[in-house]
Amino acid sequence: MDLRIKSFEEYQAKYKQSVDQPEQFWSEVADHYQWQSPWGQVLDWNFKEPNVKWFLNAKLNITENCLDRHVETRGDQTAILWESNFPDRDNIRLSYTQLHAEVCRAANALKSMGVKKGDRICLYMPMIPELAISVLACARIGAIHSVVFAGFSAQALADRINDATCNVVITSDGLYRGAKQVGLKSIVDEALQQCDSIEHVLVKKCTGEDIGWSEGRDQWWDDIVPQQSATCAAEVMDSEDPLFILYTSGSTGKPKGVVHTCGGYMVYAGYSFANVFQYEEGDIYWCTADIGWITGHSYIIYGPLLNGATTMMFEGVPTWPDAGRFWQIVEKHKVNQFYTAPTAIRALMSCGNDVVTPYDLSSLKVLGTVGEPINQEAWDWYKQMIGKGTVPIVDTWWQTETGGIMISGLGGHSPQQATFAGYPLPGIQPCLVDTEGNEITENGVEGLLCMKFPWPSILRTTYGDHERCRITYFSHYNDMYFTGDGARRDENGMYRIIGRVDDVINVSGHRFGTAEIENAINESEYVVESAVVGYPHDIKGQGIYAYVIQEKAPDDLEAAKKEIIATVVKEIGPIAKPDKIQFVSGLPKTRSGKIMRRILRKVAEGEPDKLGDTSTLLDPSVVDEIVGGAV
Ligand code: PRX
Repeated sequence: MDLRIKSFEEYQAKYKQSVDQPEQFWSEVADHYQWQSPWGQVLDWNFKEPNVKWFLNAKLNITENCLDRHVETRGDQTAILWESNFPDRDNIRLSYTQLHAEVCRAANALKSMGVKKGDRICLYMPMIPELAISVLACARIGAIHSVVFAGFSAQALADRINDATCNVVITSDGLYRGAKQVGLKSIVDEALQQCDSIEHVLVKKCTGEDIGWSEGRDQWWDDIVPQQSATCAAEVMDSEDPLFILYTSGSTGKPKGVVHTCGGYMVYAGYSFANVFQYEEGDIYWCTADIGWITGHSYIIYGPLLNGATTMMFEGVPTWPDAGRFWQIVEKHKVNQFYTAPTAIRALMSCGNDVVTPYDLSSLKVLGTVGEPINQEAWDWYKQMIGKGTVPIVDTWWQTETGGIMISGLGGHSPQQATFAGYPLPGIQPCLVDTEGNEITENGVEGLLCMKFPWPSILRTTYGDHERCRITYFSHYNDMYFTGDGARRDENGMYRIIGRVDDVINVSGHRFGTAEIENAINESEYVVESAVVGYPHDIKGQGIYAYVIQEKAPDDLEAAKKEIIATVVKEIGPIAKPDKIQFVSGLPKTRSGKIMRRILRKVAEGEPDKLGDTSTLLDPSVVDEIVGGAV
């Protein structure tokens, strides 16, 4: 199946067709996939409820498209190439035939535990092949996977398990991440003290460390999976049956379970992968994300496998054993497409060029970036040092909710401009609106980024709370999906993403709601109230700045900070640790009790002289204290 656009002219023609005749366009794309029975109607939608359905009544199983189809044509080709955390350990290659067999075995094991279509399965795992196998095993039998990034705490894991009432957890004894070893099973054990719905825990041995065991509930992967049959009929799924839930943060406190469905997600993940990365037969593709995030779902597992690609999975981190690890792997496996986050680029850039130059990077054909705005300096370094000035960069803008890449270059076929994501993919209809929701049609403007028309992998709901989905994304502006981002459109119609305009901060490409972090901080013993804002951070993009009121001003500042950080680690995980904590006696509130975050942001950004009008504050004197005590 070749879904690829091969020139900018072709892109322009396809784009026009996708807007003029969207149903015709998407049904032609969908024809490239294997369906068990075809759709009647292509699309039914309204953004009011919202209610979006693609490829109505069609039947399929995404794993037949990711696996069975390729077993027939390229069974011996490597599907997953796994690189260990440890440079001297052997890598693992699973061919399409082997991956198919492993997925069927795992699927049969889940069935033997009583798992059936529609059940929710939580995956809390290291970046090992069994994670990808488990994702696909769930999809094989129609169970809904909910992958939770293995850096979240026991509390965060429990919250996600309970929200989706999962009945099985798949995990491992522990994981390696660079020089660190983390006991995952003990985190699961702690989480499950709060989770009544879990009947089984399937444990893959990874580190070999000692773990706790609950007889009857816990089973070793290696005791039950390998003995299963290597065939498992693919469950018949309706196009609109849920495929997975993935939790993400928004402006309100509790993360929400974004729901993606089988048919539309498949069509878009495969289409966007083929076009953005311009993957060619035999290429080695590497996305460095963790499967715990949407990037790993769509562009380590589903997108590449739908295209019969060889997709690499890396267990480790970019800076261990040294900052040349990424480039050493690129050389070792002759990686052709490399997809990473600006944070990683900035971190590696700061380590100097001496760790890059020893490696042969001439295999690279496309470089990708995702997750946060990329600054000019990082873009230039990526282009020159890694891409030797010639390899195209695709700056891919998208979200957990969009399921796939929305605005991006298509390999080398699109005009490139540093820090610009570029043009929308065919089928994607972005627009900019002003704060009243009026569309701004001219170019050379900034506005709030919305989508006017559905695409196949748009989220369908937030698990268990459709109203929340409506309010969050569809209630701001009439008949539009609101992304939460601000963007600029230049004279040529290219988009540059400015960043979030809501109370979401993006730390190293990880999304957190300020309210979510505040709720965690407020769990700390002496805390009365807190307010969290983002501030520019050289490596992470944004850092977390917390203003905290305690019952009485702490005597030992460092101890008080430690206590707060420990609470955040317990409630959410180490990834949400505040970078800066300032103790204050009050917060700048309006007479109606609303915190004026603008003031807190300016102080955190180191611009206390640009606070603007503070006359509507209940007690303007708190501002002086905040400015004076800035950290
Ligand atoms: O603010 C945008 C930023 O990341 C947000 C989505 O986060 P998440 O759902 O975790 O998905 C991240 C990976 C797809 C967006 O609202 N973002 C994502 N990609 C870019 C970006 N900001 C600027 N440029 C990008 N390429």
